[in-house]
Amino acid sequence: MRLFLSLASLLSVVGYVCAHGADEHMPTTTEELIARNRDVAARDLAARKCSAEIAEFEAQRIAKRDRLMKRQWTPTSTAPTPHYTSIQNSTCVLHPETVEGPYYIRNEMIRTDLRETQLGVPIVLDIGLINSRTCQPMPNAFVELWACNSTGIYGGYPTGRPTHVKVDSFLRGGYFTNPEGIVEITTIYPGYYAGRTAHIHTMVHSNWQSQANGTLLSGGGSVNHIGQFFFDEAWNDRVYATPPYNSNRQPRTLNNQDWILTQAGRSAFVNLQYLGGNSLADGLLGYITVVVDGNANYRIQNTNSLRR
Ligand SMILES: *[C@@H]1O[C@H](CO)[C@@H](O)[C@H](O)[C@H]1NC(C)=O
Ligand SMILES: *[C@@H]1O[C@H](CO)[C@@H](O)[C@H](O)[C@H]1NC(C)=O
Ligand SMILES: *[C@@H]1O[C@H](CO)[C@@H](O)[C@H](O)[C@H]1NC(C)=O
Repeated sequence: MRLFLSLASLLSVVGYVCAHGADEHMPTTTEELIARNRDVAARDLAARKCSAEIAEFEAQRIAKRDRLMKRQWTPTSTAPTPHYTSIQNSTCVLHPETVEGPYYIRNEMIRTDLRETQLGVPIVLDIGLINSRTCQPMPNAFVELWACNSTGIYGGYPTGRPTHVKVDSFLRGGYFTNPEGIVEITTIYPGYYAGRTAHIHTMVHSNWQSQANGTLLSGGGSVNHIGQFFFDEAWNDRVYATPPYNSNRQPRTLNNQDWILTQAGRSAFVNLQYLGGNSLADGLLGYITVVVDGNANYRIQNTNSLRR
């Protein structure tokens, strides 16, 4: 059975490589993005189903987490029912590519805690990577994240505009997936800024290169994915009612008003639960499985880089 599956995957991979070149470039306009996601949808239909692999991957992580958390984790009747089922398990859905946006900074730090001194609701992200070419977990890939702080400002862009006026590294960086294709990164729940709903940017690098000072060399390997993670509106409401989020004076854009989210769809949502009890003060735990094209190589647009 196992042998049969691997042979089938291998044949599919060969088919894939013939059908799609690896040098697709990242869409920069809305029209390009829509066209590209239409292509991705078409490709998904042609792809073999990864449902079993994704469901099993998620179940193993949740089971392991439950064992590790036994001491702190006290389920209460008021805790929300975790909805792991929002994992798109019916087809081998590629996690949607979205625009890089104007706030990326190259060569960020390799680390698992991105918070520095930023205040906000801590969020531990359990990110699993699946390679759509094989339907198997993707070990040793660098998962990079960047997001705005609790009042909607990105590190390095203190004016709130995409002008890189000062070097700041908060809420940026990433780490490598383990042999099981999983990485855990701690950050804070992002705030929001005019025109966009809550989101965390992500970039997945394989064959990555690092620098002696513990930073990534952005573009040194292959960029397999550029995407964004989103959150249910109920969680946004809950978090944004608390300080310092509630001191944000920028107008809020809701999930259903955000055109990038409309493109990305449900598979880009993080499954959240309270990390301890049912209080935001203890932080949140989020699961997300990202299905990426292990043969893609997108071009990074931004030329700003972290310097000290
Ligand atoms: C996929 O998810 C749905 C819920 O969205 C669930 O009912 C179904 O059993 C899952 N399928 C597999 C193969 O895990
Ligand atoms: C977010 O970052 C900006 C720029 O560094 C800073 O002025 C602001 O105080 C930060 N927000 C919070 C809540 O710390
Ligand atoms: C890390 O090293 C590179 C290469 O020497 C340098 O350009 C960069 O500024 C350094 N980054 C930091 C954060 O020190």
